[in-house]
Amino acid sequence: MTDNAARQLASDLPDLQAHWMPFTGNRYFKEHPRLISRAQGMYCYSHDGRQLLDAVAGLWCCNAGHCHPKIVAAIQQQAKTLDYSMTFQLSHPAVFEFANRLTDLAPAGIDYAFFVNSGSEAVDTALKMALAYHHLRGEGARTRFIGRERGYHGVGFGGISVGGLSANRKMFGAMLSGVDHLPHTHDLEHNAFTRGQPEWGIHFADELENIIALHDASTIAAVIVEPIAGSGGVLIPPQGYLQRLRDICDKHGILLIFDEVICAFGRTGEAFAAHRFDVTPDLITTAKGLTSGTVPMGAVLAKGSVYDTFMTGPDGAIEFFHGYTYSGHPLAVAAGLATLDVYLQEGLFAHARSMEEKFAAALHSLQGEPNVIDVRNFGLIGAVELAPIEGQPTARAMQIFRTCYDNGVIIRTTGDTLAFSPPLIIEDEHLEKIVESVRTALRAQ
Ligand SMILES: Cc1ncc(COP(=O)(O)O)c(C=O)c1O
Repeated sequence: MTDNAARQLASDLPDLQAHWMPFTGNRYFKEHPRLISRAQGMYCYSHDGRQLLDAVAGLWCCNAGHCHPKIVAAIQQQAKTLDYSMTFQLSHPAVFEFANRLTDLAPAGIDYAFFVNSGSEAVDTALKMALAYHHLRGEGARTRFIGRERGYHGVGFGGISVGGLSANRKMFGAMLSGVDHLPHTHDLEHNAFTRGQPEWGIHFADELENIIALHDASTIAAVIVEPIAGSGGVLIPPQGYLQRLRDICDKHGILLIFDEVICAFGRTGEAFAAHRFDVTPDLITTAKGLTSGTVPMGAVLAKGSVYDTFMTGPDGAIEFFHGYTYSGHPLAVAAGLATLDVYLQEGLFAHARSMEEKFAAALHSLQGEPNVIDVRNFGLIGAVELAPIEGQPTARAMQIFRTCYDNGVIIRTTGDTLAFSPPLIIEDEHLEKIVESVRTALRAQ
């Protein structure tokens, strides 16, 4: 870069001092800023004029592509019609319509939607629902939760307690008591370079029986898993694994929660991963693709049997002492309704499904490139795992991320794994650019 260009770049930047950035190396970032100023469709544009192909849909959320005109128009219209209405004891019409539309889309039996503002809030809400459900049924001793190693369920105290990523837990004390964890299902020795679901590994679900035997079913409220673990490294469930968890939970009266914050809204080529894997949980947590990332929103979707358990007590009494000032915020609801329209009218779930094989072939063509030790995929979610640099975990993946960015492609890293979750509007030429950019970066190490 010339001196002039560098000066121009520096002058376009705001003062970066005061913003304490989430999940970011603040000092490094502020020395090497990467700011996105605008976005459209498959592309983001940086403050210094780069066009960047987005291979991760923002942060696994902009499933309809960036700044879709119909979603933008709906948000603009809503902002000048109703900015806010009280959410406790009052409401607004569109939130009921949205709940109906969402539950129509959800697996049969999932008939109720409780709105929140993020994936983390959805998870903590679902955990509280599970506790209260058992309490109301006279089984108040069911207070334990079972999560899974390498699971990510956001950053609330409930979410980090059931989550299985040690970096997210270790500085925050004892968290929720009584939580236990299933083993994760990742096994390179048996399953490296599997396309789709591994045939090997259903037995990982049987560990739930051992955990139940240890604690006794009468103390366990719920099991929570991501159908496909995202932030923990894109771990695809072995064939039959999720059904086995469902069967064991049913046998012991334990609620099953699917955290579909990443997996829902077309990521697996269906509305929900529960559809694609043909396993229906009792509660689904979701966010991100719910509004295609445009306005913060999350939801817990619940089975009728869970909701009905709450609908007792005196008439007029509050049934669930929980909720947020912005539960079902009008702007988020408008964005959500428009997003559902776009998904359905433009056939984006079917498009994602139609791209799945090409996506798999493109990613798996990276097998054999330097330091690639695994490639895995399902729907439009994929991962390339790299051998760590000795003594410097995560450094290799970060190096690839930076090279790809410099070459015009945004990918994501989790540990030494490169993760891919493109907007569902992806076409062949985008796929090719993403994979060739990663290949170039791998060869340049
Ligand atoms: C599976 C899962 N659950 C929960 C969350 C937390 O969502 P949020 O960042 O909106 O709080 C995430 C975020 O990536 C997620 O992937």
